[in-house]
Amino acid sequence: MEFDVILSKISRETESICSYEFRRADGSPVADYMPGSNITILLPNGMVRTYSLTDAGVKPDALRIAVLNQAVGRGGSRFIHQNLKPGDVLRVRGIANSFSLHETARRHILVAGGIGVTPILSLAKHLESIGADFEVHYAARSRREAAFVDILARVPFKDKVTFYFDDEQQRIDLDGILSSFVSGTAVYCCGPSSLMNNVTSKSGHWPEGSVRLDSFEPLDGNADDQAFTVKLASTGQIFDIPPGKSILRVLRDHGVCVGSQCEQGVCGACLTPILEGRPDHRDRVLSESEKRANDLMALCCSRSLTKSLVLDM
Ligand code: FES
Repeated sequence: MEFDVILSKISRETESICSYEFRRADGSPVADYMPGSNITILLPNGMVRTYSLTDAGVKPDALRIAVLNQAVGRGGSRFIHQNLKPGDVLRVRGIANSFSLHETARRHILVAGGIGVTPILSLAKHLESIGADFEVHYAARSRREAAFVDILARVPFKDKVTFYFDDEQQRIDLDGILSSFVSGTAVYCCGPSSLMNNVTSKSGHWPEGSVRLDSFEPLDGNADDQAFTVKLASTGQIFDIPPGKSILRVLRDHGVCVGSQCEQGVCGACLTPILEGRPDHRDRVLSESEKRANDLMALCCSRSLTKSLVLDM
């Protein structure tokens, strides 16, 4: 669903992170949303970027995100920092959730790295509101560069938050946090790939589904990506997918309508059934067992391990 919002407030959190608050342009209230949700902003320069909402999602008065101005990046965050101002009207898609809480978990371990604190903050606020058992581990390069440190030091659940700042020689002890799996525990991590890879490797002995990851880092292609073809079962049309171009982009270039939201492999809006071929899954939506089943793929980022794929569309 797309709707217009007005940028109602910008707050500086750190030298390179600002919070942005949006209200619906038609004046209607923001509907409740699930903790860990995100919105996708259609920027005036044509870029499409997805950001986590920082609130718990119950009776929200506005939609709030935090954006790190990435000097080396694809330019979306830089555009936001340099160009957006209060009063601007923007189109957004959402609200979507790809980082939901484990429904049956009795204990929750939240791990944030840098700007990855945004969805973790949302989850923590919600868990606190329902009286859940949880703890937050928040790692950043320095206190000065970490968003929401002041907020997290004041919240009612501040005793459940542990900070780790590189420049204060504090290292997050993932071995200690993840070494033993206790039944009914779920882990959530959002941060840079290095942190998420670490969490993944140190939680390899945890049951599938008990570790949830969220990231909005761009999904870069691989240097050895190969071309392949995609056939649409309904029309028989065949499209060449070259290296460096997604299936989604090629189909759209040829007038095929494909739904999408984040276009970064995190929301699941472009998941499409596969009839033949083996996809090279690169999304962060499907679980490992769903990827092994090979019956759905994300057209915005995944490629093919076989010379051709047949899509059920
Ligand atoms: S559009 Fe979000 S996963 Fe593809």
